[in-house]
Amino acid sequence: MSDPILRLQDVRKTFGGLVAVSDVSFDVMRGEILGLIGPNGSGKTTTMNLISGAFPLTRGTITLEGETISGLPANRVARKGIARTFQLLRLIDDMTVTENVAVGLAFRPGQPWNADLVTRCRRYLDVVGLAAKAEWEVAKLTYIDQKRLELARALAMEPKVLLLDEWLAGLNATELLSGIEIIRNISNLGVTIIMVEHVMSAIHSLCDRCVVMNAGAKIAEGTPAAVLTDPHVVEAYLGEPHHA
Ligand SMILES: Nc1ncnc2c1ncn2[C@@H]1O[C@H](COP(=O)(O)OP(=O)(O)O)[C@@H](O)[C@H]1O
Ligand SMILES: [Mg+2]
Repeated sequence: MSDPILRLQDVRKTFGGLVAVSDVSFDVMRGEILGLIGPNGSGKTTTMNLISGAFPLTRGTITLEGETISGLPANRVARKGIARTFQLLRLIDDMTVTENVAVGLAFRPGQPWNADLVTRCRRYLDVVGLAAKAEWEVAKLTYIDQKRLELARALAMEPKVLLLDEWLAGLNATELLSGIEIIRNISNLGVTIIMVEHVMSAIHSLCDRCVVMNAGAKIAEGTPAAVLTDPHVVEAYLGEPHHA
């Protein structure tokens, strides 16, 4: 895994006088799961928003497979192959599970609206373990099932890179295990994943590498085993070293 699919170079984002992301550079390798971690307010979500095109950069460059994507609007970035989930769920309550996934598919370029669509939706529902509830109304789903659905909808865009912002947050211990399994399944499909996460057991079991942020800056980068015992990371974020 030495082929960078995504590169951030000197990426900066200010909101008025506040520097939310301060000249951050890192590469994301094709096929890896990269953890983006750090204390609250350290700039993780903003970094994800810059990658997805939700916010324009103040300075710097983001490239996907060598092509500059910074400066493009979010819908263009999505079409280039970057999908995201949101920290707060955004599903359409009075539609069925399948219809919600179809909404994701409809955003793909050149997608015909036909019967094959339902089959394709089922495939993504399978990956997230929601096929049995394909015809349910979204309003009737439990919280974790809504989260599964949100993921199926992102997968329907057949992304090269998937951005997960605290996707595991709020799950109980059992749900956390299935959540970890689902992320692993998606990774096994060949999708590159960037995940913002506070659940260190998940970071340990899923991530190939981590980038650690503090006060907008990158303070460490490396394997989970290395960064989660790094004294700088312990001081800024963890309080004590975290071992697998
Ligand atoms: N849209 C915005 N307008 C103004 N300030 C923002 C905005 N989004 C984030 N910030 C600020 O940027 C900093 C980083 O926030 P964020 O990226 O959400 O951190 P994290 O996800 O690591 O908790 C915080 O100080 C936050 O208040
Ligand atoms: Mg955040």
